[in-house]
Amino acid sequence: MRIDILTIFPEFFDSLELSLMGKAQESGALAIKAHNLRDWTHDRHRTVDDSPYGGGAGMVMRVDVWTRALTDVLNSSAIKGRRVVMIPTPSGRPLTQTLAENLATADQLIFACGRYEGIDARFAELVAQDSAVELCEFSLGDYVLNGGEAATLVAIEAVGRLVPDVVGNAESLVEESHGQSGLLEYPVYTRPLDFSGAQVPQVLLSGDHEAVARWRHLKSLERTAQVRADLLQPGGKAHDSLSVLDR
Ligand code: ADE
Repeated sequence: MRIDILTIFPEFFDSLELSLMGKAQESGALAIKAHNLRDWTHDRHRTVDDSPYGGGAGMVMRVDVWTRALTDVLNSSAIKGRRVVMIPTPSGRPLTQTLAENLATADQLIFACGRYEGIDARFAELVAQDSAVELCEFSLGDYVLNGGEAATLVAIEAVGRLVPDVVGNAESLVEESHGQSGLLEYPVYTRPLDFSGAQVPQVLLSGDHEAVARWRHLKSLERTAQVRADLLQPGGKAHDSLSVLDR
């Protein structure tokens, strides 16, 4: 998968050289490039924003600069297949595991990181009208960040690890929180067996794989009921997992 990021802070994305995302770039499973939006300005001060029509606080990012940048990135990368323009914004649709799974099938993601009060609304309108790309305005949650960069890092990690050959152990993708069961993950333990009197649950030492699986499922249910009861409600992602209690 090819990932392009348009931002006024390209250094923000240096951390993608580390760990799994770094390895995925070395192996060629992901190709990630952060571009400086100011490279598409035409004035001496490399201005990307201006005051809002209608008044109000803060600044708005200019549609002309954004459109030039996006057009160049789309033309220079010349990817065939599914291309999605990702705009992080608190007014977007929630970034869920289901959305991440869907985005992992794209050939290219282009992130447009806004700052200040956001990007002139005509930019998203123009992207939505362009039949060569899809538009995905997404939100991390019901809170406001200073800009789209942190949200973009989160989305790249959530989506990138679902791209084939990025995570070494495919099984770890199934068992984890928000995976197939929709439940939160069960607790995990490793050595030492006794840490200042805190013990590892006996069942995990029993060698009885069925008993271990049952215990883990119950712990997942317990945890989900405690902290995310909404997931167990009818229509919730983990509702079907309740049927295990009938068995
Ligand atoms: N930009 C500012 N706040 C955001 C949020 N909650 N999610 C995504 N992008 C944002």
